[in-house]
Amino acid sequence: MSATRDRHALVVGASRGLGLVLVGELVRRGWRVTATTRRSGGELQALADASPGRLTIESLEMTSTEQLAALRARLTGRTLDLVFVNAAIDRGDLPISDVPTDMFTEVMITNALSPLRVVESLRDLVVPGGTVAVMSSEQGSIARNVEGGFELYKASKAALNQLMRSYATRCAEDGRTKLLIDPGHNRTQLGGPDAPLTAWESIPAVVDVLEAQAGAPGLRFLDRHGEPVPW
Ligand SMILES: NC(=O)c1ccc[n+]([C@@H]2O[C@H](COP(=O)([O-])OP(=O)(O)OC[C@H]3O[C@@H](n4cnc5c(N)ncnc54)[C@H](OP(=O)(O)O)[C@@H]3O)[C@@H](O)[C@H]2O)c1
Repeated sequence: MSATRDRHALVVGASRGLGLVLVGELVRRGWRVTATTRRSGGELQALADASPGRLTIESLEMTSTEQLAALRARLTGRTLDLVFVNAAIDRGDLPISDVPTDMFTEVMITNALSPLRVVESLRDLVVPGGTVAVMSSEQGSIARNVEGGFELYKASKAALNQLMRSYATRCAEDGRTKLLIDPGHNRTQLGGPDAPLTAWESIPAVVDVLEAQAGAPGLRFLDRHGEPVPW
């Protein structure tokens, strides 16, 4: 990343939780940020109002191929140093045999298919040596799946990781940095009220990892300390 011009990041899924704090931290460090949301107003708009010229808000329902194509068209001509796909859902803690088919489909499309569609759609906007990152989770680690629970969510993040590896293999020659990030267990709507971390504790560490990894080609699955997470 060049130190002589503004670095520009696009963050997908920034209305609240980790994505909102990620946008705030990038702006605080001098990045120009484009952040997507699927609602108007709220804390993201307040952050944009407090960051004139630094934060632009775009609308995106990530599972809509039409909305993704429209966003890609609006971004034509931009260059991005970082694309970070943060958005994901979970739908509770059912054993897989109790998961309705439409719930399985919704979670897999949102957490595994859509992030890769975003990455593929926007990759040509990413500068040579830029970074393509997706928020994964330790829960997506097959090696670390030794405690029960959250079977669908875990499967969706494992699928995300596998698809990102396929993408990274297919695009190995592009030289870009590709990251799957485990942010730790955070108190958000998704992480629940009993999680040990706040977003303000974990996200600065995540941005440290993004900045430290910038320019290093290839795919890594890293936690917020920059340590590899086993696949
Ligand atoms: N919290 C944790 O402990 C934890 C741990 C490991 C990994 N993660 C990962 O970190 C990321 C952020 O999680 P979080 O805890 O911040 O969750 P969160 O508070 O529930 O926020 C989720 C964000 O994703 C957006 N989103 C969901 N579905 C979307 C869609 N179809 N299109 C566009 N945006 C969508 C939400 O937008 P709306 O406001 O419009 O719903 C919201 O901005 C996720 O990838 C999650 O899997 C979280």
